[in-house]
Amino acid sequence: MAILPIYAYGHPILRAPARPVEGDSPELQQLIEDMLETMYQAAGIGLAAPQVGHSLRLFVADLAQPSGGEGHRGRPGKPEVFINPEILAVSDVEVEYEEGCLSIPEVRERIWRPEVIRVRYQDRDFRWHEEEMGGLRARVFQHEYDHLEGILLIDRISAFRRRLLRRKLEDIAQGRVQVDYLLAIASPAPQVVR
Ligand code: NI
Repeated sequence: MAILPIYAYGHPILRAPARPVEGDSPELQQLIEDMLETMYQAAGIGLAAPQVGHSLRLFVADLAQPSGGEGHRGRPGKPEVFINPEILAVSDVEVEYEEGCLSIPEVRERIWRPEVIRVRYQDRDFRWHEEEMGGLRARVFQHEYDHLEGILLIDRISAFRRRLLRRKLEDIAQGRVQVDYLLAIASPAPQVVR
């Protein structure tokens, strides 16, 4: 297993709609393992393939980590893999919740999203599942699904809030940010900062 650099805000791959996963391969299974390892190391509860430089419709999550992952680095709870996910229906009722993103370190914003969603996806064995979900599970699913569409949480805040974050976002894009995981930045040239 390998820890992968996480692409920071500003990298174009985070803005590209991802391609469907066509089929299983040893490389895909390896990528899944690496993504889980990378997510745990960065103390995240979800990680999408574009965030590690693969424009594929795939994300991993673990909602069973103690305290949602914070401070429990490297301790898996219940790792889950979502391949070719689809959102089939969403509730009219929306709820607000504070979100962060490993690609946008040090930024946390309150985001409104549908409270309950109906989804389908393939697991890592390519079996289809259809499921209705709410709570943190629905929240993480929608955040990670957004990554596959090239959408980031800062697209879902007000123009006013976004203006307040402008300098911070520039700093992140330039790698002027303190994180304890590998961050890959696009500007001025691709490089890894620690
Ligand atoms: Ni994210």
